[in-house]
Amino acid sequence: MRLIIDTDTAGDDTYSLLLAMKTPGSTLEAVTVCVGNVPFDQQVENALATIEAAGFSGKVPVYCGARRPMVKPWEASTMHGNDGMSGANLPIARQRPETMHAVDAIIEKVMAEPGEIDILAQAPLTNIALAVMKEPRIAKAVRHLWIMGGTDNSVGNITPCAEYNFFIDPEAAKIVFEAGFNITLSTWTLTMRSSLFEADQLDEIFAMKTPLSEFYRKVSATPRQTAEARYGRPISTHPDSLTCAMALNPDLIESARDAVVRIETAGEITRGFSAVHPPVLGNRWPEFKVNARVVEKASNGGFFNMMKQALS
Ligand code: BDR
Ligand code: CA
Repeated sequence: MRLIIDTDTAGDDTYSLLLAMKTPGSTLEAVTVCVGNVPFDQQVENALATIEAAGFSGKVPVYCGARRPMVKPWEASTMHGNDGMSGANLPIARQRPETMHAVDAIIEKVMAEPGEIDILAQAPLTNIALAVMKEPRIAKAVRHLWIMGGTDNSVGNITPCAEYNFFIDPEAAKIVFEAGFNITLSTWTLTMRSSLFEADQLDEIFAMKTPLSEFYRKVSATPRQTAEARYGRPISTHPDSLTCAMALNPDLIESARDAVVRIETAGEITRGFSAVHPPVLGNRWPEFKVNARVVEKASNGGFFNMMKQALS
């Protein structure tokens, strides 16, 4: 499978890149960086350092995209420490970013081979929205769009009603969900249900003592502390890497439903909320068409095995 990953590279974003580079049968064609977790240039360095740590220096081009959301001012995520890497202090990578803008790179790569490339969007959807505004044909030319964001009508992680990626750029998310992509949505609700690594799983990874398991141990330190304070146990959450694992191995998906996904852009309390509902029957709201498959449950054991393989 051929993949472009659009990322606000910090914490779990990096394990998703590792999975895409290290899983047999997967080719990471490009990394495009989007506004999100931490200051933009730090995210670019984090992506480059991850590629270098995986032994892929010079093999995966990195493109810089949108430095701010469409309308709303940017807000950092507090999950991953100031550098987004729990202060892991990785060496500055030798590889440098490309000069082409990420939005143009996405359009060029997808339109060169329609139907061949999947995109994994694991950041606010600003780059993807800009790309489909500039070249609407990419909506049908992308083989599949895997999105990490929103909730399944449930509690968010940045406000009670919203998940971080959709909260930061709800206007972009609305554009993307209305553009006609073939979408699978992986929500924060799914993250909390299927992606967690508990203490015994974390110990198993730390005991591997490989360079990449050490990378994982260092980069996951701050989110693990945050999770312990928030949930009372030292779990690690994997919104982006679970989504990547499902893209690479859809057999991990145990339950999913087709749904209408609509993004709240205006609500005072609910801005960034993703309303997930069935298409309304009858002719009252005929404009509500299914626009995504929403994953409800995935195999935690299968995901964990893929991660261990990538970190080995
Ligand atoms: C999402 O927001 C970011 O903090 C993570 O990288 C992930 O993409 C989870 O809400
Ligand atoms: Ca992310």
